[in-house]
Amino acid sequence: MQVEFKNEPFTNFSLPENKQAFEAALAKVESELGREYDLIIGGERIKTEKKSRSINPSNKEQVIGIVSQADQALAEKAIQVAAQTFESWKAVPAEARSRYLYKAAAILRRRKHEFSAWLVKEAGKSWAEADADTAEAIDFMEYYGRQMDKLAQRQPLTRIPDEDNELYYIPLGVGIVIPPWNFPLAIMVGMTTAAIVAGNTVVLKPASTTPVIAAKFMEILEDAGVPAGVVNFVPGSGSEIGDFLVEHPLTRFISFTGSRDVGLRINELAAKHRPGQKWMKRLIAEMGGKDSIIVDNDCDLELAAQAIVTSAFGFSGQKCSACSRAIVHQDVYDQVLNRVVELTKQLTVGDVRNPEFYTGPVVDEKAYNKILEYIEIGKQEGKLMVGGEIGPDSGYFIMPTVFADVDPQARIMQEEIFGPVVAFTKARDFDHALEIANNTEYGLTGSVISRNRAHLEKARTEFHVGNLYFNRKCTGALVGVHPFGGFNMSGTDSKAGGPDYLLLFTQAKLVSEKL
Ligand code: SER
Repeated sequence: MQVEFKNEPFTNFSLPENKQAFEAALAKVESELGREYDLIIGGERIKTEKKSRSINPSNKEQVIGIVSQADQALAEKAIQVAAQTFESWKAVPAEARSRYLYKAAAILRRRKHEFSAWLVKEAGKSWAEADADTAEAIDFMEYYGRQMDKLAQRQPLTRIPDEDNELYYIPLGVGIVIPPWNFPLAIMVGMTTAAIVAGNTVVLKPASTTPVIAAKFMEILEDAGVPAGVVNFVPGSGSEIGDFLVEHPLTRFISFTGSRDVGLRINELAAKHRPGQKWMKRLIAEMGGKDSIIVDNDCDLELAAQAIVTSAFGFSGQKCSACSRAIVHQDVYDQVLNRVVELTKQLTVGDVRNPEFYTGPVVDEKAYNKILEYIEIGKQEGKLMVGGEIGPDSGYFIMPTVFADVDPQARIMQEEIFGPVVAFTKARDFDHALEIANNTEYGLTGSVISRNRAHLEKARTEFHVGNLYFNRKCTGALVGVHPFGGFNMSGTDSKAGGPDYLLLFTQAKLVSEKL
């Protein structure tokens, strides 16, 4: 019996011993850079000729690792192995499957700083952001293990005389897991381990920009003794193997986190029945966000400014939960805007190898160019207050950027930028602010900064987002505390780290026996 779930604490880097331990982890990771990583299918390591280089976004010259790339033949092999392994894995008792997660969580906890250091190097996360990502990965495993233990218990059915009735949550089959690069450890671990603890087997296609961190996690699953073939590691390009995996008739479900456009494409491909396919595929998709912070006229203005800056610029705004819209009551608009500009000017930008930098790079050249294009659009659509230019050119640095006086329907108010850019718009009153907040096609996160109880209650029911926060930032959901996921174009309304998440990876079977 496991102790009650508790979130993994964050590391206090102001303590010299923690700082030293993290420096040592960075040094260890730096001594391991540039290694080769293979595919892993059924426990077998497979090298391919085609390789991709993972680059440090803070330092474009630095190669993090060189990763073999699957072609369709290897993707086929991975699905076949996953389908065979499903036959034995589904028979492993649920409690035993949970134990693999507890074991993997314990190993990751022991290697915590090392994994966070990989996140600094491969994803450009600051120390604190990397530490939170690793803590969340540990949390997902601890949490889903306990959720599976609960699902495996006798379910509370209405009992009738002369019959024995039982409801069992059984797995689905082979799942394709396509995680994002922005939480390359936490979300990848959560998606993968939720699927396997429920009894499914997985073909894991890691994000193209952060495959090394996923390869390192495969080591942990192996150390924890997860049987070969339960998770098959298949890096490869979306165009080469992505559609192929989704379309395969043995694929039972797809768990995807990423952009709206890719999610919609997967939805379309997965909906089409293929010869030999015996089921309708299930899609669990977490897509984008265009998240707002509403600032009311009666509120703590300093808190409002801090919440906007943290939510907009943490990890350079590359969170689907990031605030990219500040909707501010006209009475306090100038004050909040000026304070946000002041705070933004204080942010330090540079190679997150060093702890003094708060804002690191964006993930790669494609993201860099896209964000810079949006900044140009922003210059037409609003008044540039701060930022709007590139940072040091050793990496993909973009200065934290604030635009003022932007129309609620402007492109930078409607389209997901996924970078360090926030747009301000002025609201006449609270109702107007709510109306603006609900005017995008997304519905992921949002915050309201207000002391007005009636306004908070109104927002509680009318602000249509999956994760609504009052008087705090709109990022940083904690597993078990803030089940995470949104509405509308933000995905399929799932809640990662919530009590019903595992149901998405199971189907319920009722057995009724007449006594
Ligand atoms: N769960 C993250 C957050 O809340 C985003 O993916 O910030």
